[in-house]
Amino acid sequence: MAKKAKTVYVCQECGYESPRWMGQCICGAWNSFVEEKVLPDTGDDTRQRFKAGSRSPSVLKSVGTLNYERLNTGIGELNRVLGGGMVKGSLILISGEPGIGKSTLIIQTAENVAKGGHTVLYVSGEESEEQIKLRADRVCGNLSDKLFVLAETNIENVETACENLKPDLLIVDSIQTMYSDQLDSAPGSISQVRQIGNVLMRLGKSSDMPVFIVAHVTKSGDLAGPKTVEHLVDCVLNFTGERDQEIRVLRAYKNRFGTTSEIGAFTMEEKGLREVPDISATFLENSAAQTEGSVTTSIYEGSRPVMFEIQALVTPASGVGFSRRTAVGIDNTRLSMIIAVMEKKLGMPLGNEDIYLNVVGGIRPDGTGTDLAVALAIYSSFRRIAPVERTLALGEVGLTGDLRPVRNAERIVKEAARLGFTRIIMPRSNAERIKDKVGNCRIFGVRNISEAIRAFQKEDNG
Ligand code: TYD
Ligand code: MG
Repeated sequence: MAKKAKTVYVCQECGYESPRWMGQCICGAWNSFVEEKVLPDTGDDTRQRFKAGSRSPSVLKSVGTLNYERLNTGIGELNRVLGGGMVKGSLILISGEPGIGKSTLIIQTAENVAKGGHTVLYVSGEESEEQIKLRADRVCGNLSDKLFVLAETNIENVETACENLKPDLLIVDSIQTMYSDQLDSAPGSISQVRQIGNVLMRLGKSSDMPVFIVAHVTKSGDLAGPKTVEHLVDCVLNFTGERDQEIRVLRAYKNRFGTTSEIGAFTMEEKGLREVPDISATFLENSAAQTEGSVTTSIYEGSRPVMFEIQALVTPASGVGFSRRTAVGIDNTRLSMIIAVMEKKLGMPLGNEDIYLNVVGGIRPDGTGTDLAVALAIYSSFRRIAPVERTLALGEVGLTGDLRPVRNAERIVKEAARLGFTRIIMPRSNAERIKDKVGNCRIFGVRNISEAIRAFQKEDNG
């Protein structure tokens, strides 16, 4: 007797599975459950990998080291984020909002690899072969004859194509458009995405071929479907930027073959993406330096400092008894904390003010080293005082109003001097190890937020 196919209800927000339909998921989402068929256990790949033959434990010390063979993407910024190119047999997920430039980055990579004499298969479920050709012609110029395209949404057909073509690099754009015959849920549903992820992993590992998978996320950063394959892939890259601005930032959130602290920078131009090795200069090029509410800061990303501008706008609250705090690029909780410290330690009446904050250039800094710049930008806007010189501010603000040191301050100072800053306000503990003046740039070591404000407004020339 044929076994009845089992079904489960899967939350499309978080992937939670329930045998029964539920109105609200444990993740808080309402009406998010969709009935999906359970596949007969073909074996999760991880399981299969470890089931093959019984193995005995090895002494870790004596386990041989692997030298990963990497494929050059021909794009320095991408190579760097990946840790030196694509490791053979690895799965790389690249996520980003629609229209940010994922397909452009991918086609440029594909063509570079093909030019290097490798066979590349670009599978697209989003565009026709003609559309891909149009873009490729525009951004790559003369195309290599090792670059193959396939407009296909059925993953089994992709498998067949790979068996025939035996590519050295496979690209799938995007995972949400692909479906497997084995499931009857719609493309983009959690179980389809998971299944596609498993198939691609098998394909990649079995033929030692890197696989690039494109995934869409929405404005709110929702990676629902693709999130369920994050554990499966080796690298998760995120491509961000503002659509109407040129700058695009590529960052690794997970990388089994490199660090996650490197970022890659590009500008989107008429002929595709162009690398930006000097990211700080580009960020600062159009900056509103020395205007009210704008303060520049820096974080150390991977192997280089990145400078960017923080802008604040403080205006009397529009609603009675209700003031708005909106931050783009900085954690809202962090912003509230900095505002509270300023109210308490500087006696600033910010309670009835709307405060807006923006990190310019679409960069999303991690960590707390940008706190002081946030505080100074708010101060500058509230008091209507512009920075007296080209000023850079560094430091974490503690609840006591004291400043805590940042990492790699010396290298940030050197870069700031090169870029023409003339005043750096930083925690004293950092400044103690640096000269008072580096080039034309004066260093102000301060202990707390009040001292920082004083240094910020100081009009002396000494
Ligand atoms: P695309 O790579 O299609 O984005 P995604 O795959 O992430 O959805 O690029 C989308 C935008 O980039 C498109 O609106 C136009 C712009 N663009 C350029 O400005 N120059 C170019 O050379 C290309 C190919 C695209
Ligand atoms: Mg695309």
